[in-house]
Amino acid sequence: MSFPKPLMMAQQIVRGAVREGGVAVDATLGNGHDALFLAKLVGKEGKVYGFDVQEEAITASNLKVQEAGVECELSFHCRGHEHLAETVQEPVQAVMFNLGYLPRADKAVITTVETTLPALGQACDLLEKGGVISVMCYPGHEGGDVEAQDVLKWASSLPREGWRVIQYGFINAPNNPPFLVAIEKLSA
Ligand SMILES: C[S@@+](CC[C@H](N)C(=O)[O-])C[C@H]1O[C@@H](n2cnc3c(N)ncnc32)[C@H](O)[C@@H]1O
Repeated sequence: MSFPKPLMMAQQIVRGAVREGGVAVDATLGNGHDALFLAKLVGKEGKVYGFDVQEEAITASNLKVQEAGVECELSFHCRGHEHLAETVQEPVQAVMFNLGYLPRADKAVITTVETTLPALGQACDLLEKGGVISVMCYPGHEGGDVEAQDVLKWASSLPREGWRVIQYGFINAPNNPPFLVAIEKLSA
């Protein structure tokens, strides 16, 4: 057995929380890998919301789900995840964040703490009991270090009566490796 990578661990955790016919959110669509993963989990009776500030991410993500032949309701929005609460008005089982920049695109367009933290707060409110938030943090790029530390600080301060929070990553890897923060809501 070898330890799963943080991204795999995120999927493992989310898989445990999302049921067929359920509702989930990809808060950073990018190339649509997480959206496709969620679409397969909720299936044709379910719904996946998605957010990204880049139109190309919306196009790529729609295409990715369609090409995979996965049927489910998609509601993708070219707007920041800080507008989560205005857009999603039903309880959700999981919200996935994959912070940083879109690989092979404009590396200047990165998630920032000013919008990530409000979005995380809104995601907490939307979660049903037993729901989870996964946040892949990338401290290796400029700005990503501050964002990752602020996410950790915010998550560590969630009251333990209502929330279970973990951090997972390879701590002896070089160059500020990515790590996962995952949050489980314990009560409605
Ligand atoms: C690391 S990529 C996401 C990768 C994606 N999950 C995938 O599976 O390919 C980060 C994405 O966050 C997007 N982003 C930046 N600021 C954002 C914001 N305020 N709200 C939503 N997405 C944002 C970027 O445009 C970029 O596509």
